[in-house]
Amino acid sequence: MKHIRLMLGDITALQADAIVNAANPKMLGGGGVDGAIHRAAGPDLLAACRAVPEHDGVRCPIGEARITSAGNLNCRHVIHTVGPRYLLDPDPQLLLDSAYTHTLNLAVTHGCRSVALPAVSCGVYGYPLEEAAEIALAVAARKEYRSLDITFCLFSQANLDIWTAVYTQMCD
Ligand code: APR
Repeated sequence: MKHIRLMLGDITALQADAIVNAANPKMLGGGGVDGAIHRAAGPDLLAACRAVPEHDGVRCPIGEARITSAGNLNCRHVIHTVGPRYLLDPDPQLLLDSAYTHTLNLAVTHGCRSVALPAVSCGVYGYPLEEAAEIALAVAARKEYRSLDITFCLFSQANLDIWTAVYTQMCD
């Protein structure tokens, strides 16, 4: 687990090979961390998202991830993933695991050494923080991701405290 770090802060201020965005299937921006990342990255990021193939308006199905350039952000890539809406989508646990798995697979296949992630689905999409932390940290702890420096960037002290409690439990 020593390749996994938890921190409090704004993910758009971080320096990493890849920064992960909690997007929606259209991948054309939104609120929350999606809005913050697009504001910080500038219009080039939206242009890169528009270049991602879409089918009936969907560029990234729930539980999958797409990688683009990063505009003005201090990173090489943005990996956009779409987590489940906790009360609306079937099997949210499976879909959240899949979102993180696809995300970290893209980071590995694109030669990233470091990746920063937000608490996907824990805002507008209503995923309970503790359950989400258990899923996210279990995926990050898989041996195939041990070559990555993984940073989970929490946006409030309360969220960081919850994730830290789960992390500590997993290390015991
Ligand atoms: N840095 C790090 N984390 C952030 C930031 C930021 N700048 N801004 C928000 N967060 C946190 C939120 O506090 C929450 O814990 O990211 C987590 C995910 O919340 P959302 O951004 O609401 O993402 P999500 O719940 O996955 O909902 C995605 O919201 O913004 C729209 O377009 C997006 O439709 C999509 C939906």
